[in-house]
Amino acid sequence: MDLLNNKKYSLKWHNVSEYENVKPFTIADMELKTPKFITDNLIKYLKNYPLTYFYKSKEIYDSIINWQFINHNLKLNYENILFFNSTITCICLLIKIFSNKNENILLFDPEYGHFFDIIINLKRKIIIFELFFDGSYFIDFIKLEKIIKKNKVKMIIISNPHNPSGKIYTYDELKKISKLCKKYNVLFVSDEIHQDICFNNKHTTALSVCNKSIVLTSITKTFNVSGIKTSICLIKNKNLKYKVEKKQIRECYNIVNSLGLITTKICYDLGKKWNSELLTLIKKNRDYAINFMKKKKLNLKVYPSDSTYFLWINYESLNIDEKNFFNLLIKIGEIDVTRGSYFGKNSDKWIRVNIACDNKYLKLFLNSLEKVVNHIKTGKIDDIKCCSTS
Ligand SMILES: Cc1ncc(COP(=O)(O)O)c(C=O)c1O
Repeated sequence: MDLLNNKKYSLKWHNVSEYENVKPFTIADMELKTPKFITDNLIKYLKNYPLTYFYKSKEIYDSIINWQFINHNLKLNYENILFFNSTITCICLLIKIFSNKNENILLFDPEYGHFFDIIINLKRKIIIFELFFDGSYFIDFIKLEKIIKKNKVKMIIISNPHNPSGKIYTYDELKKISKLCKKYNVLFVSDEIHQDICFNNKHTTALSVCNKSIVLTSITKTFNVSGIKTSICLIKNKNLKYKVEKKQIRECYNIVNSLGLITTKICYDLGKKWNSELLTLIKKNRDYAINFMKKKKLNLKVYPSDSTYFLWINYESLNIDEKNFFNLLIKIGEIDVTRGSYFGKNSDKWIRVNIACDNKYLKLFLNSLEKVVNHIKTGKIDDIKCCSTS
């Protein structure tokens, strides 16, 4: 896997550009070059075909159908697939179709921060349901049912694998969520954009337990091509599909980038080997980081995750608030990570660290983290002006 060598158009690097030496471990892009099999095949495409208005031919759908069947045991057909230019765009549209202003949408806490933002921007209300933490996250289903019932919840949106923690919801958990959704007429939306970054094949797609769920996925995280802006919406239920497609066409959300669709086909047809190599790299990084923290007695707890390229690290033992901790990470450690509070109000003693990188860049993070922790342990917490970027 080749290392990223040109950061010119990277938002992640732009966000730290005002600090001379600060290195980012934030946004979900890898410190790796676009995989060679993708660039080679995109060049081939560009040499052979004009960038015309694009016809979404059957071959594009077939690549998705095959990938989902082989890797997720999910049987799909052509009619189950819609394209969007981003997962978040699609979720926005789903919110607009299946809820009205001031109606309630349930999110687990913690959860991917962007979900909170779009629900608020669309003037719906968020019902926060805290995941119960006991070494890992669990769902108290008795409480969940009460909350759904009391608040007349319209939709539940989850990320699975869970961003930030990397938890993979079990078959039983998904089944129980699905039952509650059926009982209280709630739409179940499962964002599975990280579904191909699981270390043990344990991932269950919501569509295999709940025919009436809507699943989002994409090649963008797995193959490090976030800028290609293409996302896939999977819907088995005909009535739901009809509603989404009708609104999608009416509001022009069906207009997507031809290179995104071609890249989707390239990745799903040719990307299995690269995907496996990526999993090996991330698993190695995860193990290395956990061992490092143990060996150096940093007193930090890493969430026992089975997926994603994030480390979800608890720093409660350091007795420092989020603002001060981030200032020290930037000023003393010269590293930027994503704040836990971005993922919910109870996660301000956590950080999310992107470890999709080589061992050298990972070591840089770990050495910096050690330096900051030791600085805090000496009791000298400088009053540095707030300067974190994330
Ligand atoms: C769970 C989850 N959903 C959605 C997104 C964003 O996807 P897109 O760029 O397709 O909108 C991310 C990006 O990190 C994510 O982690």
